[in-house]
Amino acid sequence: MTMASLFSTLARAGGLSRNRSFGLSRGVRRGVAALAMACGAMVGTGLGVGTVSAQENIPLDRAPDNGENLASLQHGAQLFVNYCLNCHSASLMRYSRLQDLGIPQKQIEDNLLFTTDKVGNTMSIAMRPDDAKAWFGVAPPDLSVEARAKGRDWLYTYLRSFYRDDTRPTGWNNMVFENVSMPHVLWELQGVRTAKFEDTVDEESGEKVRRFVGYQQVTRGKLSPVDYDSAVADLVAYLGWMSEPEQKTRKQLGVWVLLFLGVLSFFAWRLNAAYWKDIK
Ligand code: HEC
Repeated sequence: MTMASLFSTLARAGGLSRNRSFGLSRGVRRGVAALAMACGAMVGTGLGVGTVSAQENIPLDRAPDNGENLASLQHGAQLFVNYCLNCHSASLMRYSRLQDLGIPQKQIEDNLLFTTDKVGNTMSIAMRPDDAKAWFGVAPPDLSVEARAKGRDWLYTYLRSFYRDDTRPTGWNNMVFENVSMPHVLWELQGVRTAKFEDTVDEESGEKVRRFVGYQQVTRGKLSPVDYDSAVADLVAYLGWMSEPEQKTRKQLGVWVLLFLGVLSFFAWRLNAAYWKDIK
């Protein structure tokens, strides 16, 4: 649904159609129907965001909601800068913005910046897209608004679903992103795992299917499974924050705006009553 067609639909619904007559003209009715459909479509696409289905019917795990927790967000920012920013950029994000998470500028400069970067720079990367393409087959996408594109649950599941697969060029595969060309960059934290599959025959169709049975831990990671999950939750919280840093302000401001409109409506109502008092 493009903006232009939405506007033309609105214009038609507003009676600007050529077919003008009293009552609900056909044009207006058609316009209203189209508008309803347009809204339906918009709601549909709105719902579509974040419900990227997992492959092989792997259900997505629910990401803990750490978006309000500053310590989590700081930890997530640190993980992001250390583990993701070599390949992925976040071109809509400035380092200085991390001060909103309570990280002092000095600390950003000392711990989170690459030597060539300045604190006012955006989170860009040195790797050229062409090189990245040659190395990985696909250039790693910018992650500025990834949390809104894929949804937090998908990210949370994705970063916890890597397994060792020697048939892949990177040596890694992923349960929710089959044949992904990203290596498991957090493997030191999680340890190495393989996935166990079982070949079964589907009873209805008689086709052979490969069923995922579970993971097997091969070597232990630096973090326990529980700590790894919590680290990924922090990272995902950070990715969520980065995709909309103003979210908290927006919600707080929203409450005030609604209160203001409420008070305004009251006065408008009383004023209206006062104006019409003598006429009625
Ligand atoms: C060694 C380089 C490299 C590093 C480091 C890296 N990635 Fe990736 N990532 C890739 C590549 C390449 C792809 C594209 C995969 C594909 O399309 O097959 C990718 C894809 C992704 C995707 C899926 C994007 C999409 O919408 O298709 C997400 C999410 C992601 N990476 C998150 C992360 C996070 C979070 C980190 C840090 C923990 C990270 N990556 C670190 C190389 C990297």
